[in-house]
Amino acid sequence: LKVYQTMHNPDPERLPVVYEEWEERARHVLEDGPYYYVAGGAGGEKTMSSNLRAFDRWNIVPKMLRNVEDRDLTVDLFGTTYSSPLMVAPIGVQSIIHPDGDIASAKAAAAMNVPFITSSASSAPLEEIAKVMGDAPRWFQLYWNKDPEVTASFLRRAEASGYSAVVVTLDTPMMAWREYDLKNVYLPFLLGEGLGNYFTDPAFCSKLESSPQEDPTSAIMHWTQTFGNPGLTWEDISFLKEHTNLPILLKGILHPEDAKLALHYGVDGIIVSNHGGRQVDGAIGALEALPHICDIVQGEIPVLMDSGIRRGADVVKALALGAKAVLVGRPCMYGLAVAGERGVREVLQNMLADTDLTLALSGEKAIREVDRTNVMKAEDD
Ligand code: FNR
Repeated sequence: LKVYQTMHNPDPERLPVVYEEWEERARHVLEDGPYYYVAGGAGGEKTMSSNLRAFDRWNIVPKMLRNVEDRDLTVDLFGTTYSSPLMVAPIGVQSIIHPDGDIASAKAAAAMNVPFITSSASSAPLEEIAKVMGDAPRWFQLYWNKDPEVTASFLRRAEASGYSAVVVTLDTPMMAWREYDLKNVYLPFLLGEGLGNYFTDPAFCSKLESSPQEDPTSAIMHWTQTFGNPGLTWEDISFLKEHTNLPILLKGILHPEDAKLALHYGVDGIIVSNHGGRQVDGAIGALEALPHICDIVQGEIPVLMDSGIRRGADVVKALALGAKAVLVGRPCMYGLAVAGERGVREVLQNMLADTDLTLALSGEKAIREVDRTNVMKAEDD
């Protein structure tokens, strides 16, 4: 009701409610380079379309007369109760989107009690992000470096700074064919904007002849030579387990065979994701892959998902198909572009309110109880 009451007296400073308006306004605020870096995908952007289309293939089937007065959005993961099933996806180089970058989005996430996943390629060092978040929940995303000492050092730093899980992104051992970035000659990493963690890392800096402050070009060159590791195999998972006690989630799982391997190698969680359509053009939509992964996992470890979450109905559908929680990527970045910390807060608040309403109107009180009985596949599919 509160949401609708404010509409009678609209505030001229009011930020968008309609999701598409966030994107439109971000388009006006950002230059071509950063805008397309965020909004674009790999190749012909088929995967990006598949991500959104996959949500249209499933319909919520609302149930009536079920007393939905008091609702509960909480979810349990790794022994912690989180206030909702939303998380802010790991997004690198946020200082190209807004000068306050990750610090602003981490503060917004903390204010909304939504867990923030700090990227390995964050603009601010992971310790600074942790500091502004206080006790608010946060996870760390790992890009697995060719240099095992740097990878181990990142894991140590994350653990020491109060991050409570490690998200290992497997789908980016190298950057994909991204046509807009090639056209705009835009690679923010080369400007050093996403290297906050590397330039403050003792293991990384020990390999340089002079400090990144003295010689940023050589430091960036060294980073390009060590970022990503296409030589990794499943056997290497043991390295991560030896170097952290935190729960390990694998991000970028789409193939059911990989879900079997994830169980076999004893990881703690899976994030079904195609990196928001930024890696393999023509890949399966993430929501389409989700039920197949959940059929293999059978609840043994939590399965999360991202890629295409835009509104509350998307959250409910993903949970109905087996996800325990979802990560939100671009919507938060459009909020950041438009209004910094306030913008991210507003985007999260809108999505939480929409999720709560959609849950109630679907006939459920508790988000954790949403299941396949709440959705049906579209008949004409
Ligand atoms: C990303 N993503 C990403 N993932 C990751 O593991 N580490 C990272 O540093 C980044 N960086 C990044 C930058 C930008 C600009 C975008 C848009 C995405 C992928 C991200 O975590 C997530 O998987 C997708 O954004 C989810 O899709 P939607 O919500 O953007 O459709």
